Amino acid sequence: MAPHGEGSEEAMVVQDENRKPISSILIVIAMQTEAMPIVNKLQLKEDLDSVFPKGVPWVRYHGVYKDLHINLVWPGKDSTLGCYDMDMGYAFYLGVDSVGTVSASLVTYAAIQALQPDLIINAGTAGSFKVKGASISDVFLASDVAFHDRRIPIPVFDLYGVGSRQSFSTPNLLKELNLKAGKLSTGDSLDISPQEEASIVANDATVKDMEGAAVAYVADLLKVPAIFIKAVTDIVDGDKPTAEEFLQNLAAVTAALDQAVTQAVDFINGKCLSEL
Ligand code: ADE
Repeated sequence: MAPHGEGSEEAMVVQDENRKPISSILIVIAMQTEAMPIVNKLQLKEDLDSVFPKGVPWVRYHGVYKDLHINLVWPGKDSTLGCYDMDMGYAFYLGVDSVGTVSASLVTYAAIQALQPDLIINAGTAGSFKVKGASISDVFLASDVAFHDRRIPIPVFDLYGVGSRQSFSTPNLLKELNLKAGKLSTGDSLDISPQEEASIVANDATVKDMEGAAVAYVADLLKVPAIFIKAVTDIVDGDKPTAEEFLQNLAAVTAALDQAVTQAVDFINGKCLSEL
């Protein structure tokens, strides 16, 4: 048997896979506000007979759109922090979205196992930097992803901590959708410490989110190609406090995200991985 690498049996299997039309996409999104416009646009339906373990808050929407089976998963609301608001005269569930790397990696793992997608799209909002020329509502397709808050200053553990991975290369998608290209850096905080700022610079990142590198880790582990579409809600090196700017822009920026994701799905439809 030929060894691993170009021309090996393994490489030829991957080449064959890349030439089959894509039939199933998994969209991973952290926040309900980001997810619902896409669910509505693609006319996805909530899965009432969950493929996930009983009791977890993870939510799956699914449907057939053109020639594609689409699954969109959202980690749901944190189970310990929810409450009901009775002010409206009916019970309205208030809760907090399970953002961050832990929930993102768990729901991605469970969804890949249950649904065996051909391609993952991790979509969401992100911070960006004016020194990198970014503006609010810009939409980025990340070329690389890495962590900026896993500091392990021991040789090789340091590289494991950064966990840098390339996203699946999609030059035609980038050009067709006229998206911006940049590297993505992930951490579990919305704000940024001086050490994290230095790591983001070391990662040469243009966009900063709270899930991407975790999704990339799981996708790489299970050998599923993944791409990352991130829309900018706040300028990290700007004048406004991040949380305030994020909340102010969230609803408007999700419209830009929704448009980019649905255009990406339209572009992917009928193509194989090697055509992206
Ligand atoms: N999502 C939106 N804005 C963000 C930021 N500044 N950092 C991390 N995740 C974000």
